[in-house]
Amino acid sequence: MTSHRASECESPRHAPSQADAVTLRPMREDDLQLLHRWLQREHVRRWWGGDELVTLEGVTQRYLPRTLGQGGVTPYIALLGDRPVGYCQSYVVVGDDFWPDETDLGARGCDQFLGEGDLLGQGLGTQLVRTLVDRLFADPAVTKVQTDPSPDNARAIRCYEKAGFRPLKRITTPDGEALLMLRAQG
Ligand SMILES: CC(C)(COP(=O)(O)OP(=O)(O)OC[C@H]1O[C@@H](n2cnc3c(N)ncnc32)[C@H](O)[C@@H]1OP(=O)(O)O)[C@@H](O)C(=O)NCCC(=O)NCCS
Repeated sequence: MTSHRASECESPRHAPSQADAVTLRPMREDDLQLLHRWLQREHVRRWWGGDELVTLEGVTQRYLPRTLGQGGVTPYIALLGDRPVGYCQSYVVVGDDFWPDETDLGARGCDQFLGEGDLLGQGLGTQLVRTLVDRLFADPAVTKVQTDPSPDNARAIRCYEKAGFRPLKRITTPDGEALLMLRAQG
């Protein structure tokens, strides 16, 4: 995870059913408290963020500008039916300080997590990533999508493989070691 971009739901809990599909909506300012709660959960904290995300102020400082369309990162809330279940974001790679060597203006990146621990490992992350990637490729200017999990995050890597990403190479980012994974159009 790249903390420069990223680094409880009160709805009734229910098991995902075939009828529920993961959809995305733009994140809004009034989602900041929910995002803050998710970011404190152990299964998220292990892979996402940094000390500055412990407080609501820190989360607001990082994510509020994104909800206002400032910077190159676009934030979304993932919904299962009506229930908010996760967060994801996309970014334009060129101009992002993590990727000084990228020259393809069509390159996009994405990062994601499920905030609700009871929903892990049921295929929803794969659905979320597919939905986000489809949304990105709906723009004809987009040529490829990258993501960069920790090499130790085997569940995320498997999820991204199921969503069509292929491992390209291990890299060192300002957040540490990462596995760069790419999904081409199609
Ligand atoms: C990463 C994440 C989005 C994936 O979503 P998910 O719904 O849990 O993933 P899925 O159920 O779609 O797929 C997970 C796959 O990994 C496999 N898996 C789970 N734990 C694993 C492990 N320790 N080693 C290898 N594979 C593992 C599952 O069996 C499944 O593969 P399969 O369908 O072939 O059996 C979600 O787990 C999450 O939010 N994790 C916490 C935060 C995080 O790691 N975010 C990613 C930062 S890069």
